[in-house]
Amino acid sequence: MGRVAIVTGGTRGIGEAISTALKDYGYTVVANYAGNESKAKAFTDATGIQTYRWDVGDHQACLDGCAQVEAEVGPIDVVVNNAGVTRDGVLHKMSYDDWNEVMRINLGGCFNMAKACFPGMRERKWGRIVNIGSINGQAGQYGQVNYAAAKSGIHGFTKALAQEGAKFGVTVNAIAPGYIDTDMVAAVPPPVLEKIVAKIPVGRLGQASEIARGVLFFASEEGGFATGSTLSINGGQHMY
Ligand code: CAA
Repeated sequence: MGRVAIVTGGTRGIGEAISTALKDYGYTVVANYAGNESKAKAFTDATGIQTYRWDVGDHQACLDGCAQVEAEVGPIDVVVNNAGVTRDGVLHKMSYDDWNEVMRINLGGCFNMAKACFPGMRERKWGRIVNIGSINGQAGQYGQVNYAAAKSGIHGFTKALAQEGAKFGVTVNAIAPGYIDTDMVAAVPPPVLEKIVAKIPVGRLGQASEIARGVLFFASEEGGFATGSTLSINGGQHMY
């Protein structure tokens, strides 16, 4: 049995590609999901990857969910914090709930999962945490003060926790995807999306598998000297 990896939001979009790529590379993968039961079932039927349902924004649910995974599957060696939501809107129209929900899930989820898994990694002297940030956390984005703040927070969280994990063999890295061909990006109003794509030097949206490839590197044995780093995979849209 390979090392155990958990991917949050791991049954859809970028998370689905990460889950299947890790499985293909020999990891024992568990995919967490929040709500889309039918998609999770279809995902398990297609991939054989076991799924566990909980809200990563719920601190106790993360502790309990990860304890259950460890009891049923084994100690978690790799965490990919991928789960995220958007509640886009310009600040003057954004509700406090839309701010809070994005912070709670996107940034809070990273803290909650790390609280659940980092102590065990530290004790076992091996671990990999890969946080999915965003180009919009690096560059900002009109209509996304909540999402940009949360994703930017993920980049800071990554660099801070990397310093704590380094001497215990636990690496913590981030990937900053650009605009990827997923349901989340498809929800951007078409005229807005057209303008965004026009500014991507590579001339197209990214594919989820192109993000998964970066995760494989950070999750690997050979990735052990990379920590606290952010890999931008964005078609050249923001060179940072
Ligand atoms: N820069 C400058 N001005 C902009 C702008 C931009 N990027 N986008 C919109 N505006 C302007 C519009 O031109 C318009 O100006 P006028 O009133 O003078 O014509 C004004 O802002 C209002 O625009 P909308 O009619 O679009 O306003 P809205 O309130 O209906 O919607 C919005 C605003 C929700 C921000 C909408 O524009 C939107 O959804 N934008 C996309 C945001 C985005 O990129 N989200 C990324 C989602 S995917 C993701 O997040 C994954 C990832 O990690 C990359």
